[in-house]
Amino acid sequence: MGADLERVLITEEEIQARLAELAREIWDHYAGEEFLLVGVLKGAVLVMADLMRALPGSAPMDWMAVSSYGSGTKSSGVVRILKDLDTDITGRHVLIVEDIIDSGLTLSWIRANLESRQPKSVEICTLLRKPEAAKVEIDCKWVGFDIPNDFVVGYGLDYAEKYRNLRVVGTLAPHVYS
Ligand code: XMP
Ligand code: MG
Repeated sequence: MGADLERVLITEEEIQARLAELAREIWDHYAGEEFLLVGVLKGAVLVMADLMRALPGSAPMDWMAVSSYGSGTKSSGVVRILKDLDTDITGRHVLIVEDIIDSGLTLSWIRANLESRQPKSVEICTLLRKPEAAKVEIDCKWVGFDIPNDFVVGYGLDYAEKYRNLRVVGTLAPHVYS
């Protein structure tokens, strides 16, 4: 499976080191107030698992699943909730945990949707961001890595549901697509 990668962009060690830094910053930011981690299925599963274990204390977790892509690989901005939160976020601090911000359309929709539920605050932590792909501006407080505008897989990110289990983030070799 490693042979399907063209290039490793971010190593396992780099991911873990960065998540440890972010976890510390996040913990300090909330200064003892409870915050709810909200993961976006499925890509954010591994970021959530490692970020929450890097926190100095515990934080509750919930999940949302949305569909933003139709058949193609471009975000449409049309978002449908496939699975909503189990919990009521009214009056609570919410931290959205994401794998990647590409155009930003999905996350800006999710953020607006959560903000309409009267939470105390909504912030975003994403492992990856593609600045060149941005279609909408998103205020994202914690970003692991800014990466070039290439399709990436690994560490939760998939191509046709494969490669999510890779411990690194990388680009796929051309033969995989053909
Ligand atoms: P937007 O464009 O709305 O898209 O910010 C966010 C979602 O699109 C998926 N996505 C990717 N998945 N490699 C992937 O495996 C990528 O390079 C990539 N870019 C976007 C992802 O599900 C993300 O949540
Ligand atoms: Mg995703």
